[in-house]
Amino acid sequence: MKEKLLEIKAKALSLLSDDNCDVEDIRIKYLGKKGELTAVLRGMGQLTPEERPVIGQLANEVRADIEKAITEKKANAEKAMLEKKLRSEKIDVTMPASALKAGRLHPLTKVQRELEDIFIGLGFSIAEGPEVEYDYYNFQALNIPENHPARDTQDTFYITNNILLRSQTSPVQVRTMEVQKPPIRIISPGRVYRSDAVDATHSPLFHQLEGLVVDKGVTMGDLKGILELFAQRMFGENTKIRFRPHHFPFTEPSAEVDVSCFACGGKGCRVCKGEGWIEILGAGMVHPNVLRGCDIDPDVYSGFAFGMGIERIVMTKYNIDDMRLLYENDTRFLSQF
Ligand code: PHE
Repeated sequence: MKEKLLEIKAKALSLLSDDNCDVEDIRIKYLGKKGELTAVLRGMGQLTPEERPVIGQLANEVRADIEKAITEKKANAEKAMLEKKLRSEKIDVTMPASALKAGRLHPLTKVQRELEDIFIGLGFSIAEGPEVEYDYYNFQALNIPENHPARDTQDTFYITNNILLRSQTSPVQVRTMEVQKPPIRIISPGRVYRSDAVDATHSPLFHQLEGLVVDKGVTMGDLKGILELFAQRMFGENTKIRFRPHHFPFTEPSAEVDVSCFACGGKGCRVCKGEGWIEILGAGMVHPNVLRGCDIDPDVYSGFAFGMGIERIVMTKYNIDDMRLLYENDTRFLSQF
């Protein structure tokens, strides 16, 4: 029996010494309930009382040795696996990093900042006003009383009967004159709203830039001079401007202002649709009623105001024919600017 036990031990250990052995199979084969060691122990009953403790002890030692070998083998296998994993997952810190995509300014933001720079260079400062506005500032104080037909062309979104989303940046003129006395020289860029359906040239949300100058002795000549300087800085040195008579309730006289086409110089081309001129803004001398409403005496002070659509400037400058491109946030389009 002793030989049998030693033989089991030798066989088990020799099997376990093979790197590719199946440890669990060996455990079952020798130590399992139906294993070889168990079979030997079952035969213990036939031993003499003297032999029994000797063989019992030897059997225990054999079991302990095999168990120890199995435990070691399992631990080694785990270690080897971990090492393999670490090696295969190691990070090469000297590899170049994946490139970060640099963001860039939206063309609307870019042009707005360009406009701001030009007017700041001409001595203007920036004023702000709310997008949610009172009817009073958006219309009444701008000489557009209730039921005035000019309201039709600037239909907007109403929060209540007298609170609305501003349809133009002109209310900032009034807000500025209420708190600041002449000399005044401000621009005010920002969002405006109108209840227009979306198409290639309309959007219910767009951007304007307002300008206002009020002082003693300000004339239409000053308005022309400032706008000409602006047009030349924005569209090029040789740009000319042209005033066409128009009507705005809050300016008198009023004009629509065109710039000579920067693409063809005025001969007529695709950019200006054969006209030679491109309309870019509305302007005029501040109406005496507007000044009076802000406690500024129109017999002492005079001023001019102008307002331009920033989308229109962007589309003109970059020859974009569909306004929706400016709002869709398609990076294939935006990455061109
Ligand atoms: N607010 C006018 C518009 O939206 C533009 C404008 C501004 C005209 C200032 C004259 C003076 O059409």
